Amino acid sequence: MPELASGEVLIRVRAAGVNALDWKVREGLLKSRPYAFPIIPGWEAAGEVVSTGEGVTGFTPGMRVMAFTKKPVFQWGACAEYVSVPAEQVAPTPSHLDDVEAASLPVAGLTAWQSLVEFARLEAGQTVLIHAAAGGVGSWAVGIARQRGATVIGTARPENADYVRGLGASAVVDYRAADVKEQIMALAPDGVDVVLDAVGGEALRLSYEVIKPGGAIVGLVDAPDHDQCAHKDLSATRLMVCPDNGQMAELAALVAEGKIPLPEIRTMPLEDIAEAHRLSEAGHVRGKLVLTVF
Ligand SMILES: NC(=O)c1ccc[n+]([C@@H]2O[C@H](COP(=O)([O-])OP(=O)(O)OC[C@H]3O[C@@H](n4cnc5c(N)ncnc54)[C@H](OP(=O)(O)O)[C@@H]3O)[C@@H](O)[C@H]2O)c1
Repeated sequence: MPELASGEVLIRVRAAGVNALDWKVREGLLKSRPYAFPIIPGWEAAGEVVSTGEGVTGFTPGMRVMAFTKKPVFQWGACAEYVSVPAEQVAPTPSHLDDVEAASLPVAGLTAWQSLVEFARLEAGQTVLIHAAAGGVGSWAVGIARQRGATVIGTARPENADYVRGLGASAVVDYRAADVKEQIMALAPDGVDVVLDAVGGEALRLSYEVIKPGGAIVGLVDAPDHDQCAHKDLSATRLMVCPDNGQMAELAALVAEGKIPLPEIRTMPLEDIAEAHRLSEAGHVRGKLVLTVF
């Protein structure tokens, strides 16, 4: 049972989302950040409030909540029966979302939101290129971009093209094609306004060629190159997602209103977490993987 510090909420976890970040932590790829063993993986959960620490208001036992469970030190994660989380990282789960759906939102949803809405300030009429549009972040990003009135070009394999179009993309480009750049330029002859890159490497390099001068570029994996960005006067960032319960509530409300679709969700029992990590690490999860906890 995790300890409950002041300002925290103890949650009985019913569902925990799996993110690519989880296997990266497990592999030690993020070990420059503080951690302590034993480590329970998982950065997002949905379930019910069990109890609250000193100073917490607004949460009562039994209340259904979703949470972005990341703490400054990687240790007590969401893939467990219980997790304790600072209250400002917890939001009520709206009645129209079940726990599995709610657990698909905090990390991938907020990453997409902070990239497109907060940083890039994506507007109606703009065109956005989303690399890895079929993944967890990509699925949320396509829906958020459409909701803001933008035209979406996504990259994915052809077997995911219908899925990505179903989320609201106007066009889907196979990133393995020899003429990816030409296909994107044919779709956006003046260049795209915004790029969300959830892939890095070659995808990021291609982005400098297809973005308009003055555009905005968000790298989730690799940091955008300073010289390339200066050359085109791009605003650019290597974004690291932050917990924000106000944004979680806002995004959940847009889902409730039918304005943003949920990603496709595949569930697996918590016991199968090793297999879930293998699938995530293989790099072709469509939508979100969510572990159910009984
Ligand atoms: N910096 C941050 O704060 C932050 C936050 C969240 C995630 N991330 C990072 O962002 C990346 C995406 O995260 P995620 O949770 O969305 O991962 P994910 O759900 O596991 O992404 C899987 C998707 O990636 C697609 N994909 C794989 N290789 C691709 C390529 N070369 N071009 C285009 N699409 C490709 C796959 O589509 P196909 O099957 O069609 O290939 C699949 O749908 C991860 O590296 C993660 O660590 C960073």
